[in-house]
Amino acid sequence: MTATPIDGKAFAAKVRADVAKGVEALKASHGVTPGLAVVLVGEDPASQVYVRNKGKQTVECGMASFEHKRDTSITQDELLDLVKQLNEDPAVHGILCQLPLPSHIDESVVINAISPEKDVDGFHVSNVGLIATGQDAMVPCTPLGCLMMLREQHGSLSGLNAVVVGRSNIVGKPMAQLLLRDSCTVTIAHSRTKDIAAVCRGADILVAAVGRPEMIPGDWVKPGATVIDVGINRIDNPPGSDKPTRLVGDVDYTSAAEVAGAITPVPGGVGPMTIACLLANTLVSCCRTVGAAVPAGLTA
Ligand code: GUN
Repeated sequence: MTATPIDGKAFAAKVRADVAKGVEALKASHGVTPGLAVVLVGEDPASQVYVRNKGKQTVECGMASFEHKRDTSITQDELLDLVKQLNEDPAVHGILCQLPLPSHIDESVVINAISPEKDVDGFHVSNVGLIATGQDAMVPCTPLGCLMMLREQHGSLSGLNAVVVGRSNIVGKPMAQLLLRDSCTVTIAHSRTKDIAAVCRGADILVAAVGRPEMIPGDWVKPGATVIDVGINRIDNPPGSDKPTRLVGDVDYTSAAEVAGAITPVPGGVGPMTIACLLANTLVSCCRTVGAAVPAGLTA
């Protein structure tokens, strides 16, 4: 079998178009413009690229973008003051503090200081609890993007065996919760899992979110399975190559694509969906604030 590649770039463009339409409708019906505030502490080059892309795509969707850049020397209390100011700002419907934060700042204190309604990352403990109990919440962007792609691929996910490899708070755990809500039989596998290859081979849906380059080979994949590769790992190319490095996922794409039914490539799979879902969450937050209907297809 040769797997169908799942085109995350095209799917993300469709989600952004739906968001832009929703923003237009909200402006017309309620005279409100959704606003996203992004807080960036320090000079981490990867974070700077993410934040620039987020700002650009926010504006392209017709929303307001507010960037707050601070020096690494900012104290935790100063950062908490900024979060408080954004919580109270009616023009701001979504707040995202780019992670990682410097080591002298406790990330969980900052995340939990964000008003849960404006927590477009879905990292606040209130949102984690709401998801776990099946209530309306802000859903973390990457798992939401994966869920959208899986629903598009399968229609109903009910009764499918889903294996999530990785147990992070940002991807693995919320991904498992969302798959459970869609009535999958869910297993979370991790570094201590016994015979992880056999566990993965039982998966109709295999989500890899471990951050280890090409860790999952094709012979861990059930024939016909849908493989969602969340990993984005930069590795060295062999000497003499055109470029010194390249991006790979957590799955060995070449061997997995021979077995799977459908698979997300890296790059161009899950990655573009994350920012698209951040924009969707900002629109959803604004709709809930003003009491407008949330457009279909943009939530879990
Ligand atoms: N750093 C890398 N990815 C993310 C993300 O999804 N949210 C935040 N806040 N920081 C990140």
